Order: sequence, then C-alpha cells, then structure tokens
Amino acid sequence: MKVLVLNGPNLARLDIRDSKYYGDLNWEQLKELIADGARNLGFDADIRQSDDEATIVGWLHEAADQNLPVIINPAAFTHYSIAIHDAAEMVKSPLIEVHLSNPMSREEFRHTSVISGVANGTIAGFGPNSYILALNALKSLIS
Ligand code: DQA
Repeated sequence: MKVLVLNGPNLARLDIRDSKYYGDLNWEQLKELIADGARNLGFDADIRQSDDEATIVGWLHEAADQNLPVIINPAAFTHYSIAIHDAAEMVKSPLIEVHLSNPMSREEFRHTSVISGVANGTIAGFGPNSYILALNALKSLIS
C-alpha cells in the first residue's frame, strides 16, 4: 500500500541544521531510512519535501482525492499554517503528524500545533525513529 510521507520547510537541509534537535542523518539518509522502514512493513513510501506551503496543500488534496494515508512532518508550518490544517482535515485516510525533535521541550512558539487536532496522532522527539514509529502506528490503524 502506498503512503505519502510529506515534509515541510528546511527538512531537506538536515545536513546544516542543529543535530542536537534533528540528529545526524542528512535528508538523503533520512529518506532511505523511511523507505526501508516502509518496505519492511509492506508499504510503498512516496517521500516528498517542499519549502512551499501551496505545494504541501496540493499534496494533501492528492491524498484526499486518492484516499492515501499520510505521514506528515509539517516542520515550521506545524505552528501556524491554517491552510495545511484545512487541507489535512480533508484527508479521510489515516494521517499521522511526526517531528524529529520534541517541540514541547523547545521554544514556546513551538508548543502550538495547528495540525494535531486533525491528525490521528502525533509522534515527536524520537529523531528519525519518529517516522518508523509512525509507520508502525499507521500499520496498526489500517489493519
Ligand atoms: C520539526 C519541529 C519544528 O518546530 C521545526 O520548525 C522543524 C522541524 C521537527 O521535525 O522536529 O522544522 O517539525
């Protein structure tokens, strides 16, 4: 089964982001880890990243139209994008929010997620393993 794994701004530049929060994998390595983890669980992960809000909204419309499950790390958009909230709300298949870091243990502006309320659940703070945990959660949601 196909799963869309959507990633927001700056996640393709993990090579120069703070490894204290985001770990030591670069974007290519993270993609590989997610693709392998998905394959092991019987999923075909379509892994995408964009710095552009409209592009992510379009991908969520695609998920809604095609009834595709979604794992999404909206990155900074998590904290303020009502457009992504509204688009995520249209997705009727399971949708899981993930974060590499634990936003609740960081600056106060990261304590709000406008996405959590329209996600089946949120997994945060486990580094790249957050995605693997989300894939496992997805597996149990759909079986
Ligand atoms: C993030 C957390 C966000 O607060 C931040 O803006 C990101 C990445 C994470 O994966 O930990 O870009 O979503």
